[in-house]
Amino acid sequence: MKNLLITGGCGFIGSNFIRYLLKEPSFSGRIVNVDKLTYAGNLESLEDIATEFGKKRGVKERYIFKKGDICNLTEMEQIFKEYEIDSVCHFAAESHVDRSIASPEVFIDTNIKGTFNLLECARRQYAKLEYAEAEEGCSRKNRKEFILFHHISTDEVYGTLGPTGYFTENTPYSPNSPYSASKASSDHLVRAYHETYGLPVTISNCSNNYGPFQFPEKLIPLMILNAIDGKELPIYGDGKNIRDWLYVRDHCTAIWLIMQRGKRGRTYNIGGGYEIENRAIVDKICSIVDQSGRAPRGFVSSNELIRFVKDRPGHDFRYAIDCTRLKNELGWEPQESFDTGISKTVKWYLENMQWVERIKSGEYRNWIESHYQNQISASHT
Ligand code: NAD
Ligand code: TYD
Repeated sequence: MKNLLITGGCGFIGSNFIRYLLKEPSFSGRIVNVDKLTYAGNLESLEDIATEFGKKRGVKERYIFKKGDICNLTEMEQIFKEYEIDSVCHFAAESHVDRSIASPEVFIDTNIKGTFNLLECARRQYAKLEYAEAEEGCSRKNRKEFILFHHISTDEVYGTLGPTGYFTENTPYSPNSPYSASKASSDHLVRAYHETYGLPVTISNCSNNYGPFQFPEKLIPLMILNAIDGKELPIYGDGKNIRDWLYVRDHCTAIWLIMQRGKRGRTYNIGGGYEIENRAIVDKICSIVDQSGRAPRGFVSSNELIRFVKDRPGHDFRYAIDCTRLKNELGWEPQESFDTGISKTVKWYLENMQWVERIKSGEYRNWIESHYQNQISASHT
């Protein structure tokens, strides 16, 4: 992979992946990061990476950022051409379930139409390279290739589980939110491009991630930041919903393994094997915040700030991943336990308040105010 296009590289998982891959000895190529910089995209998350791997005299440029919208086909075609893209790792998406319930349209545009545009570019590049190979009579050894379209997806496409059972790669799709329905749709398109056009693709469906650089609209960073700010901690419903959590770096190692050695046309589930109720996560976060001496003034423990609020409509009860295929075929194992991962994560937020403060822009405030309006008392918003 000489010229790898990464979409959505300024978001949470994409930025962690770029940071991981550029320091990974088994990757020597160049990354072109295309990101629209929506509210969730933040160039600052990769400032150090741009300095270290960006354009410098006398050193091979290994990181390029291009502001671009995957919904704009012409823009994407231009990028494929200009940078001779030979592989894609596609993260860009609207990713927040609650926002998809409030305003679904942009999820359809970005997650479905945007993925379609990228597949079209990849298909043309694939066909063109095959054609060039035939015309030039290139030897197999040095021919140009379109190597891979890797699509990043979610376990949420499978719907919800009861108290037992696991999602396998053969679980029928049954998405329940506009977000998961749009991701399911994009998964189907990717699969179809493999079946119809022979495009080399892989798909990964991962469970909930947590770690550095996650936008504080999602459960874990929201709770960390609200706890240290002395704001209420809104838990939907009775707090008994269960997710399977994976530290973001372990997601990155799995993606790279699949990209290198995953069977083309195949889906791989990725999960942390760590299931926990939302209420228990918030309790853990509170106790780490308290132990760090950051319990808000006037409170013995930050867990006094917990409030049970109106449930999310269509709230999936439980996600749990069976990732036997990934473990058996590719030998992947997560390195981080939830206890070590969550401690690292809280520490990262406490040490990176500058990053946090810049994110809490007008857009973030507007979301928090409109979404939690009437749920959290006005004095705390
Ligand atoms: P995120 O919301 O933090 O980041 C998304 C990024 O995509 C942002 O940088 C944003 O600017 C960019 N983007 C959005 N629309 C775009 C467009 N039209 N054109 C170009 N760029 C655009 O998301 P994340 O949590 O990092 O998730 C990344 C991917 O992983 C998504 O596809 C998501 O469905 C999937 N996923 C996430 C999780 C999770 O727990 N966060 C779990 C499994 C799968
Ligand atoms: P979230 O981080 O939004 O991820 P997802 O919905 O993709 O799983 O939410 C994780 C869980 O936490 C989910 O069950 C909803 C719940 N939740 C709350 O209880 N309160 C909140 O304020 C948020 C954002 C989420």
